[in-house]
Amino acid sequence: MKGLVCLLLLLETFVCVVQHQVDGGLNENEISQQPRSEDGRPNPPQTDTLRDEASTDSQQNYHLFFTDIHAALRELTATVTEQKANNRALETQLRDEMNKKNDEISNLTLSQVEELRKENREREIAFSASLIQSGIDYIGPFTTEITLTYKNVFTNIGNAYNLITGVFTAPLKGAYMFRVSVFGIGPTQSAASIYKNGERVVSADAYQAKDFLNSSNGVVLILEVGDVVYVRLWSGTRIRDSYNNHSTFSGFLLFPLREQELCRM
Ligand SMILES: *[C@@H]1O[C@H](CO)[C@@H](O)[C@H](O)[C@H]1NC(C)=O
Ligand SMILES: *[C@@H]1O[C@H](CO)[C@@H](O)[C@H](O)[C@H]1NC(C)=O
Ligand SMILES: *[C@@H]1O[C@H](CO)[C@@H](O)[C@H](O)[C@H]1NC(C)=O
Repeated sequence: MKGLVCLLLLLETFVCVVQHQVDGGLNENEISQQPRSEDGRPNPPQTDTLRDEASTDSQQNYHLFFTDIHAALRELTATVTEQKANNRALETQLRDEMNKKNDEISNLTLSQVEELRKENREREIAFSASLIQSGIDYIGPFTTEITLTYKNVFTNIGNAYNLITGVFTAPLKGAYMFRVSVFGIGPTQSAASIYKNGERVVSADAYQAKDFLNSSNGVVLILEVGDVVYVRLWSGTRIRDSYNNHSTFSGFLLFPLREQELCRM
């Protein structure tokens, strides 16, 4: 754009110079004609007049021609200059809009990142515990089932497991994995079940006349927010735990689920 304006200005200057030269040249011709006439060469006055008229005509034609070119160039220069200004304004406007959009996008990204962080924090759900914190203890047998309270907590990320009640409460809808291990010393039966909202789901059950016994089981459950999961010791059975942490209950969120995903199943 700048180059074009320069070119136009250069052209204009060039035309100006050429015009002056042509004008000057014609005048010189006129002057140089004078001595020739004075030399008394056969130079009829009519011819001189005609030539003069002709040169005046062509001089006027040149003049008109250059005036036209001049005007056209000036107009063109003005148009280009105006366009340049317009483009600059447009450029500024575009840059402003782009900057605004960039701001919006980075704001969106930031808020999305924050949202994801929050979602990820909500998804951090995992617990694991054994029955007793110290010593050796037998639990059972009882005449009815009891809910076991696993007191020796290894992890409780998200605090969804309550070590006072022994109950895990789902903080969000999703697929969860649970696992139970029971340990005993014969002669005894050791049996416990994972419950979901009052329903028995899976059990670990072993009988041994003497020596150690152990059994374990696990299950993946789909839980709604507020669903509860816990372990109950069967009536008439006994389990043992010690500093060896043999009897354990663990659970964690595999992945969250939304309504549509549940409908698919
Ligand atoms: C982006 O966020 C900043 C601060 O949070 C705010 O001042 C600005 O107006 C936001 N820009 C847009 C385009 O939303
Ligand atoms: C688990 O029980 C089996 C018998 O059912 C026994 O052979 C094994 O040693 C026990 N393991 C532990 C770690 O107590
Ligand atoms: C049982 O758990 C406790 C921590 O709660 C740990 O210090 C101890 O080493 C564990 N015992 C075994 C045998 O893993």
